[in-house]
Amino acid sequence: MIKVGVIGAKGKMGSQVVQTVLNDPNLELICAIDKFGCGEKINNIVIQNDLEKALQETKPDIVVDFTQPSVIFENIKIYQKNNIKSVIGTTGLSNEQIQEIEKLSKETNTGIIIAPNFSIGAILMMEFAARASKYFSNAEIIEYHHNQKKDAPSGTSIKTAQMMIKNNDNFKLGNCPETETIKGSRGGEYSENNKGNIQIHSVRMPGFIASQQVIFGADGQILKIHHDTINRECYMSGVVLAINYLHKNNEFIYGLENIL
Ligand SMILES: NC(=O)c1ccc[n+]([C@@H]2O[C@H](COP(=O)([O-])OP(=O)(O)OC[C@H]3O[C@@H](n4cnc5c(N)ncnc54)[C@H](O)[C@@H]3O)[C@@H](O)[C@H]2O)c1
Repeated sequence: MIKVGVIGAKGKMGSQVVQTVLNDPNLELICAIDKFGCGEKINNIVIQNDLEKALQETKPDIVVDFTQPSVIFENIKIYQKNNIKSVIGTTGLSNEQIQEIEKLSKETNTGIIIAPNFSIGAILMMEFAARASKYFSNAEIIEYHHNQKKDAPSGTSIKTAQMMIKNNDNFKLGNCPETETIKGSRGGEYSENNKGNIQIHSVRMPGFIASQQVIFGADGQILKIHHDTINRECYMSGVVLAINYLHKNNEFIYGLENIL
């Protein structure tokens, strides 16, 4: 049995991960950590809020982190320092932080999977968008999330843009000089080393969980690649896949598509 710790166990994603771990005969919930609900019990596991202390006491094989952008970088440093493999669903890490984590993972010889999206449909949406990027010169991304989401744009939209840029690093914007009469109307531009130019638009609204549309345009045609998350169960098979992969392997991985 793989001993799993869930960090952010009281949250929307973390509580779903807790149920998934409890229902999986190959996984054992060994610790649950959250800054809320401290002292409450989940199947005899007491929720704790001191991350490092709880990890040192319970010694999980792997932790799954769905917390929040403001703490994730420091949490990962704690996992690495204590040689605990981690599956990271929390979004909001910058490119520089991801590079630093890759270096740290090699130094500590501690595997980690960072996946901005664990749903197979979303991964395919990103891969299809990357493929289409070879053939279109204009593309924009619209991502839609619930209005409690703390980071914008979403980690999925950034990862999509990164995958698209590998196939086309010079998307065109408008075909004339543009003036924004309301700041931000054209969205935020994703570029790497001044290359890319993919506009990302973030919608935040009750009713959505997570959706994304990548729109490609060319003379006389529009291609829309769209994915909707209907409920959070869609992420769970990806999370379990990542746990099982990391149990057998000890690598740094960014993106679930790399282990499918
Ligand atoms: N990778 C994916 O497929 C995927 C899917 C959905 C959401 N997410 C991301 O996962 C993260 C969590 O999303 P959510 O909707 O579950 O949020 P949420 O606010 O419902 O849950 C976050 C939980 O983490 C806890 N928490 C925050 N800081 C903590 C800390 N320092 N120590 C312990 N617990 C702490 C909070 O108390 C809360 O219970 C977000 O970054 C979100 O963007 C990723």
